[in-house]
Amino acid sequence: MADVLRRHILQTGLMAAVASGAAGALVVRKNMGTLQEYGEWMASIRRLPDTATDLSQLVALATLAPNSHNTQPWTFRAAAGNRLLLQPDLNRRTPVVDPDDHHLFVSLGCAAETLAVAAMGLGWSCDMETDASGEVTASLGPGKARPDALFPAIVDRQSTRSTYDARPVPIDDMIALVDAGTAPGINLALMTEPRERSQMRDLIVAANTAQTADPEFRAELKSWMRYNPTSAMNNGDGLLTAATGNPSLPDWIGPRAFDLFYDPDAETDKIAQQVTSSSGLAVFVAEESGPQAWVQVGRVAQRFLLTATARGIKSAFVNQPVEVAWMRPALAAMVGLPGQRPNLVVRFGYGPTLPYSPRRPVETVMA
Ligand SMILES: Cc1cc2nc3c(=O)[nH]c(=O)nc-3n(C[C@H](O)[C@H](O)[C@H](O)COP(=O)(O)O)c2cc1C
Repeated sequence: MADVLRRHILQTGLMAAVASGAAGALVVRKNMGTLQEYGEWMASIRRLPDTATDLSQLVALATLAPNSHNTQPWTFRAAAGNRLLLQPDLNRRTPVVDPDDHHLFVSLGCAAETLAVAAMGLGWSCDMETDASGEVTASLGPGKARPDALFPAIVDRQSTRSTYDARPVPIDDMIALVDAGTAPGINLALMTEPRERSQMRDLIVAANTAQTADPEFRAELKSWMRYNPTSAMNNGDGLLTAATGNPSLPDWIGPRAFDLFYDPDAETDKIAQQVTSSSGLAVFVAEESGPQAWVQVGRVAQRFLLTATARGIKSAFVNQPVEVAWMRPALAAMVGLPGQRPNLVVRFGYGPTLPYSPRRPVETVMA
């Protein structure tokens, strides 16, 4: 009798737990949002207009540019004479990973180049100048629409942080990438041979291990993580876990899971696999240093990324050996440019499209 009673209590308790668990799961899912809702929101942001009658439409496209930690560290200020000033938003610095604002100005350059491609595609003329402080002035005027293959690539491009399929890139596409990724003062080293890729893999893994062992680096990264679609949509910035191929989590679990379930060995294996499954790696090295040169690196890199996208080639940044300052000389030597400061490392190849990263509403970036 006692056993029967105990079993009954257990069963009742279990039912209650399942019931409350199920209810909890429902609440959690509602708060987290779904990837479908997120995809619909994203589609409304990643639209290519037929015409642009005001500057905000151009700015909206420019904000789809890649940028470090997806902080979107920029402000667009309309000025007299159809000019648009692109200025850094220093409230969106990431002082640990980017103490000298190198990435911040590269990101500004990526936005500037996206603006230029958008303007040309939508029938505006666009002349750009970057001053020594890194501020960009875009002089816009009426022009003839000359949309090229890079124009639709603005909305299609993403940093695809998945494993690729290791297929080599055909030679005509490689030539187009070299053409897009070089400019006066900007060198591009392409590494496609298995030996080169495995050397680079070892450097990236070593730099990643150094970064993730640093509590300040982890804390800064964590502050830009968005663990579910609702959080990404509410903030409009940061790194959505689904965009890195990871599951969504409630906000209250996400930061704890980040610490608790972080497995250095699994992370190392994942990064190593991502690098070796890439068709190649591109290292950008500017001859000069400072905000003006870094904006230029961003402009050239974005042409490279848009060209890749237009040709069905995915890409993602693996900047760890650039971010860990003491590893830069080894990287520079590896690409045959000893003594210079490497700016960016990008891997490219063929892989699936992942959920896109969020963006802030255009009003919040226009001054
Ligand atoms: C200067 C710069 C540095 C970046 N460094 C990294 C990096 O080391 N690792 C990474 O996964 N993504 C890196 N990114 C990619 C950004 O995280 C990405 O652009 C941002 O999250 C927006 O996503 P999207 O490129 O898909 O639009 C970098 C981007 C820029 C412009």
